[in-house]
Amino acid sequence: MTNSEFASISPLAYDARGIGPTLVLLHAFPLDRTMWTGQLKGLSSDCHVIVPDAFGFGGTPLPSEGWTIDGLADSVALLLDSIDQTEPVILGGLSMGGYVALAFARRHPQRLRGLILADTRAEPDSAEAKAGRAAMIELGLKSGSSAVIEKMLPNMLSPVSFAERPEVVATVRRIVSTQKPESIAAALGALRDRPDARPGLSTIKVPTLIIVGEDDKITPPDAARTLNSAISQSKLVIISGAGHLSHLEAPEAFNAAIREFVNSL
Ligand code: MLT
Repeated sequence: MTNSEFASISPLAYDARGIGPTLVLLHAFPLDRTMWTGQLKGLSSDCHVIVPDAFGFGGTPLPSEGWTIDGLADSVALLLDSIDQTEPVILGGLSMGGYVALAFARRHPQRLRGLILADTRAEPDSAEAKAGRAAMIELGLKSGSSAVIEKMLPNMLSPVSFAERPEVVATVRRIVSTQKPESIAAALGALRDRPDARPGLSTIKVPTLIIVGEDDKITPPDAARTLNSAISQSKLVIISGAGHLSHLEAPEAFNAAIREFVNSL
């Protein structure tokens, strides 16, 4: 294989299902593509749904030199090249996936037909948040992935999910417990060092759907409102009874918002 052939192959593992307009969904930290099971099932009669794994998660190897949010956005573009997807796509991301989707919108705007930003924000990490990443890296490397999820879980789901949706809590624990501590550490570095996406928001010219759980404590509704006021063709949907992982907590409302958006394009 020549270098140029190699450069055109995406290293990202992915699942794909359905026919129709291509919808790529990028997962949150520290989960993997299996968090989108309800979207693969629920949206594949409307769309060709593609769900990749970020570097080090699920089936995608962790590069030895680490990775960045911009680098992952470029690998999503390579994935589209590798499946001959030359037409613009609808790209969605939740939380970390949303950071990557915003980087993709800045770096590959011509490849976008629509954008979905779920439970995410444009602001970079504050100094306090960066310090929190360092503590989390230490926790993960010392005590493993399960310690990381126990620390994060109270902020990830709505009180309604803790009270009424034990299967959602179990799913999050199960997915995170299979991730490698060194992958979690590398992703925390990428999250900490991500660029400020605010300057690029006014340049987003494609229809954009913004979704947020009303009880999201990590990227709260105010962060979604900031996105909504800065992106000209955007629509905001707030899902009641859902927290940060709104796609898992309220899959029907989440999928309905996406279906309506896709049908409007
Ligand atoms: C995520 O859900 O992807 C993360 O919580 C994002 C973050 O920590 O900034």
